[in-house]
Amino acid sequence: MSSKHNKIPDFAMNSPGPSVQEILASTKEEVPYPLDFEAYKYLGTDDIDYSRYTSREFFQQEMDRMWARVWQWACREEHIPEPGDYVVYDIGANSFIVMRTEEGEIKAFYNACLHRGTMLARSGEHGSVPQLTCPYHGWTWNLDGSLREIPSEWDFAHVQCEKFSLPEIKVDTWGGFVFINMDPDAKPLKDYISPLDEHFKRWNLEDRYIAVHVQKELPCNWKAAAEAFMENYHTKTVHPQLIPSSSGPSTQYDILGEHLSRFYNLTTVPDPVIGRELSEQERLDLALMGDSSMRQKIEVPKGGTARHYLAQFVREQLEANDVEMGDLTDAEIIDTMEYSLFPNMFLFPGLSLPMIYRFRPLSTDPDKSLFDLLFLRPVPRSGERPDPPEPTYVGMEESYTTVAEMDRGMAEVYDQDTSNMERQQKGFYASRKRGQTLGNYQEVRIRHLHQTLDRYLAD
Ligand code: FES
Repeated sequence: MSSKHNKIPDFAMNSPGPSVQEILASTKEEVPYPLDFEAYKYLGTDDIDYSRYTSREFFQQEMDRMWARVWQWACREEHIPEPGDYVVYDIGANSFIVMRTEEGEIKAFYNACLHRGTMLARSGEHGSVPQLTCPYHGWTWNLDGSLREIPSEWDFAHVQCEKFSLPEIKVDTWGGFVFINMDPDAKPLKDYISPLDEHFKRWNLEDRYIAVHVQKELPCNWKAAAEAFMENYHTKTVHPQLIPSSSGPSTQYDILGEHLSRFYNLTTVPDPVIGRELSEQERLDLALMGDSSMRQKIEVPKGGTARHYLAQFVREQLEANDVEMGDLTDAEIIDTMEYSLFPNMFLFPGLSLPMIYRFRPLSTDPDKSLFDLLFLRPVPRSGERPDPPEPTYVGMEESYTTVAEMDRGMAEVYDQDTSNMERQQKGFYASRKRGQTLGNYQEVRIRHLHQTLDRYLAD
């Protein structure tokens, strides 16, 4: 899987400084699979046309050819633990009711009445019901989608009960997430996500609970929003406060499968732009800068490393909260591993930054998107799993700092990420140049997203 085995043109990898794998080798710390390899692929240099972010025709193609055929994360299993619990998942003009049946199965139905089309549940809502009843004339379905009752049944002698079950779409689960797919011929989820399952064997996301859920409208196309989180190239300009604790140019970018890519960023390895060697204590102090959850001073003993003592500190904090740490290594605890599963799911399995992202078109507007930001924390040994919180809604103009559950330093980082989105989306329209020119290495995941999208559009 090493990059040495890919045919990479000389010009495509010229990042100064040591690679992530070289730095890890120099630390001599234990690095488990899948953090112990790199898998960069050179994917070409063509510009990415701006019309892909602005054109209504392109947006509709995405809906018809891509969103209608991919596995999408709709909710977590803990959102619908009991029979009758449901979540409405919307994508573009499509809407689905993801339902727990009497038998404990999960099913997903098109969210439209079979009488005259009324939505059975409101967009985005969730709740618990004994059956699904249309609010217009009261047609009612059982939790498994079979037709239960038609008021004034005498007037519908032509309606055959067995033909009026709610149409279903495919459902499967992985890592505690419920996925849906509108395509009846879709390949199984486990094949679609490969090799995600293999990579996450040590990071059981099903054993985590939702600690924070934020929803924010973003003023840009869903792909521009997702792309803002796919590279670390912007950090020096957008998040200067993170430079001391970020390995910047040494962030590793991997293409892992048809639908999967990742970056891997080492914590406490400063960007070489700092221009001098830092002591281990300085590295640790800078890594903690701005993190109000770690205000106390951590001393690095002589001969110790910032990485190990930061990991030790996090480990002790989690163990104090009754979390089983098993044999997780320092790297798995403190580093930032960001996986993206095409088209719109991002997973951070590390324990210091345990986020999940989802980017969707907001209704049918190519210029707007909806961002779901979750923090998944490990369920303690007691097995007690708090109920999922209601999403905290952050308006288009509002700051993440209004979210009480978010650390202020982190909220400011998300505000910084949002700050360029509207300008970029407007720039797509204003530009004389027709497309984005991407870096070969640091922005390869963006190219991978577009090439995968193209395969769906062409097929
Ligand atoms: Fe649903 Fe009439 S539209 S019962």
